[in-house]
Amino acid sequence: MKYIIGIIQPDRLDDVLKKLTEKEIHLATVSSVIGRGRQQGVAEVYRSHREPGNLLKKIKLEIAVNEDFVDKTINAIIDGARTGQIGDGKIFVLDLPECIRIRTGDIGNDAIG
Ligand SMILES: Nc1ncnc2c1ncn2[C@@H]1O[C@H](COP(=O)(O)OP(=O)(O)OP(=O)(O)O)[C@@H](O)[C@H]1O
Ligand SMILES: [Mg+2]
Repeated sequence: MKYIIGIIQPDRLDDVLKKLTEKEIHLATVSSVIGRGRQQGVAEVYRSHREPGNLLKKIKLEIAVNEDFVDKTINAIIDGARTGQIGDGKIFVLDLPECIRIRTGDIGNDAIG
């Protein structure tokens, strides 16, 4: 299992969710965050509101998936989020050792989707 974290521009969220839905990826955690990339917020201020400390508003998507959904998830995020401009975002892929559905006690692959 992998835990996929996507940091994207807020105005790309709708498209990313559509692309994920097309691939039957429905489960996700979405947060509003602030962050900075290698331009430290300076060069992309035209795209989003700037917070103090050169921090820009971003959306953080977190999706836990079985191995056969890893590529589909990454590609859906890229398809929905890429414009070719700086600040399009980044995807981090982490190994996920365990997942537990609290209601049923399902664990691992059975619990994730
Ligand atoms: N190495 C990192 N560690 C933690 N968060 C990061 C890292 N790189 C990017 N981020 C997060 O992703 C957001 C978007 O990053 P961004 O797309 O600007 O990356 P970049 O490396 O500057 O690429 P680009 O040159 O395309 O802008 C940042 O605002 C920050 O929240
Ligand atoms: Mg950047």
